[in-house]
Amino acid sequence: MRRVKQITLTLLLSGIVSGAWAFSPEGLQQQGPSEEVLAELSGQHLDNPDSIATGRQLFGNTCLFCHGPEGKGARAPSLVTGAWRPGGGNTPEYLYSVVINGRPGTIMGSFRESHTDEQIWQIIAFLRDVSTKIAGEAK
Ligand code: HEC
Repeated sequence: MRRVKQITLTLLLSGIVSGAWAFSPEGLQQQGPSEEVLAELSGQHLDNPDSIATGRQLFGNTCLFCHGPEGKGARAPSLVTGAWRPGGGNTPEYLYSVVINGRPGTIMGSFRESHTDEQIWQIIAFLRDVSTKIAGEAK
């Protein structure tokens, strides 16, 4: 009898743990595009003048209010300097994951519903272009 109870409890607990995982930000990320799709999106949009131009407009409509002109920071952090500069440690894929998941508990919301993957990568292309230029000027 005791053993049955133990097994039931174990099953119940593992159910709760895996359920929590499904709702964690990492869990949500798992449901996002595969690595191949992400590689395709970044290849298609980064350094593409059309994507950068469209991304500039999208950024102006949606992100500028908090992240400042050209993403240089305002009430929200800079997205083009520090760890966000090219080679600075924060990858375009990480930027993408923050934008689709948001930062729970802050005013940084999720843009998963309001923007397509295409549009998010156009915004990333714009921010990369700005950060590449800033890095060039600093040399
Ligand atoms: C309502 C204000 C607001 C808007 C609009 C907004 N953000 Fe944010 N964002 C924030 C704040 C505040 C943070 C910092 C959250 C924290 O403390 O972790 C943040 C954080 C981020 C980060 C992580 C920065 C870091 O260094 O860790 C990224 C990337 C980001 N935002 C991208 C965007 C993009 C792209 C858009 C437009 C699609 C956008 N945000 C729109 C307020 C905003």
